[in-house]
Amino acid sequence: MAGRIPKQFIDELLTRSDIVDVIDSYVPLKKAGKDYKACCPFHEEKTPSFTVSVDKQFYHCFGCGAHGSAIGFLMDYEHMSFVEAVEDLAARAGLKVPKEAGIVSEQDKDSGANLLEILREASRFYRQQLREHPQAGRAVEYLKGRGITGEIAHEFGLGFAPDGWDNLLRALGKDDASREALARAGLAVKKEAGGYYDRFRDRIMFPIEDYRGRVVAFGGRILDKGEPKYLNSPETPLFHKGRELYGLFHAREAIKRDNRVLVVEGYMDVVALAQFGVDFAVATLGTATTRDHLERLFRHAPEVIFCFDGDRAGREAAWRALDNALPALREGWQASFLFLPEGEDPDTLVRKEGRDAFLARLKTATPLPEYLFDNLMRQVDMNRMDGRARLVELARPLLSKMPTGVLRQMMLDRLAELSRMDVGKLPVPSGNAEPANVFRTARRGSSSGPQEPPSIVRRAIALMLQHPVLAKKLSNESELAGLDLPGMPLFLELCGLLKHSPTLNTAAIIESFSDSEYQHHLSRLAVWGYPAMAENVEMEFDSVINRLCAASSKQRTQRLLQKQHVQGLNQMEKDELARLLSVKRDNSRLSPSRH
Ligand code: UTP
Ligand code: MN
Repeated sequence: MAGRIPKQFIDELLTRSDIVDVIDSYVPLKKAGKDYKACCPFHEEKTPSFTVSVDKQFYHCFGCGAHGSAIGFLMDYEHMSFVEAVEDLAARAGLKVPKEAGIVSEQDKDSGANLLEILREASRFYRQQLREHPQAGRAVEYLKGRGITGEIAHEFGLGFAPDGWDNLLRALGKDDASREALARAGLAVKKEAGGYYDRFRDRIMFPIEDYRGRVVAFGGRILDKGEPKYLNSPETPLFHKGRELYGLFHAREAIKRDNRVLVVEGYMDVVALAQFGVDFAVATLGTATTRDHLERLFRHAPEVIFCFDGDRAGREAAWRALDNALPALREGWQASFLFLPEGEDPDTLVRKEGRDAFLARLKTATPLPEYLFDNLMRQVDMNRMDGRARLVELARPLLSKMPTGVLRQMMLDRLAELSRMDVGKLPVPSGNAEPANVFRTARRGSSSGPQEPPSIVRRAIALMLQHPVLAKKLSNESELAGLDLPGMPLFLELCGLLKHSPTLNTAAIIESFSDSEYQHHLSRLAVWGYPAMAENVEMEFDSVINRLCAASSKQRTQRLLQKQHVQGLNQMEKDELARLLSVKRDNSRLSPSRH
């Protein structure tokens, strides 16, 4: 077990390094006002929306929402592990990573860069075997039998893992370290009794690439009958099935050109479609389409078409995809569903009827809203009042998942129409605005206003997070300790952290919340703003804190009055109440501000 890197070191590292230097070494940055900009390396774009802030030591893309510290950048862009990213940054800053008990340098132990190298070599090996191995004839015959041309096999880097337990190991596993690396890359399996064997044997190999075209895993199809038909790499530091999509890197230009992406179920489907000129298809890897998948797909194109088999399994998969798509359906994004005739998949169909007929089918895909309502209506009797009530109940959890916006409103309207109910009476909350449910309260009734002003606590947190020096001005946070408002626990934790380590910058603060549920909210607040915040930060902070103090006094006063009424107060409480009431009188006589 690797020990932990001390938190203070991470703090120091993030205050001593410069994120602009780090990112600029991969993605050339241009100065724009106080910040730096570039075209985002995490999604395709023509005008730069990727912004790097010197003050906050934080990057953020306004296009795709990617964000993080220098550590986060190295992890996401370079696929480094946390420890590797820290070591890399430390080396740049000339710092030595302190080794706590048990910590091992991960430089050569779990290096993502090492694994990438091994995977690249393995891919080369499998391709070479398809050309040169004595048994390659069988593999080539198999591919031919499935109608795959040599050209398309080459384009997708298809290869062959020959039969036998140690072909790859003999080629690449020269020493213990490399055998161990093969195992960590998912290519070899470690035996309990010691030693290793090749994971992939007698299979057609499909390399799976990440968003930068680097091989991170493989899928292998058995040549003859046998189980399992497809074997995939296990989860590794570089490969997460729920995130990668087969063929995405290959298809990215075509997806951009067509402004749409087709999601199919199989490797063979992607390859066959591409061979027939339907080149904007990707496949999930034997898993349901996840929200992660969708977020990624929508970064490439505004329209996603899911293509499923017409059988029951296909319909179930489609419904799961719909469920995952709902939260991702932001403004302007569309999803639709295409069901193929029973017994067909895109591979067989495109070979049978050709490109144009297949493309024509795409036009008939059912839009998600229609698919959703059709499906639910099939489950109820729309002629009965209680049937229509049931429709509302079935639709409710689904529509609640959608982000607020025009589409959601239109679907609510449609639900109202179908159930013959007044849309205002539908039991589906109409506000689900991002960000941050830390701040979402049980405020009933009043919460339905379309544009709630940002809560005062959220403002306080954002100000202090973006301008940590403000924490020095705080002398009265003890007054606020009892204030019961959503977000206050986070605000107080932030105050405590900055009292203790006043030199932290925004990125270091967020990094120090890395084990906490708050980190996500903080990352968002780090780039969130409202007009007054941009003007005079100090004045705005004073005013926000004053309002929090006032709210706190008011809450305390009310509590004491209530207690006085119900059970009476002790002397200390009486004094406190008297003080609170007199301050209140003073304030109303003097001015709105106490400072
Ligand atoms: P299918 O069973 O629909 O096969 O699996 P297919 O893609 O049509 O394959 P061919 O045409 O017989 O070669 C769809 C996908 O599900 C995953 C694979 O990703 C496959 O492409 N799968 C399937 C597995 O991971 N393991 C399996 O054993 C089967
Ligand atoms: Mn198939």
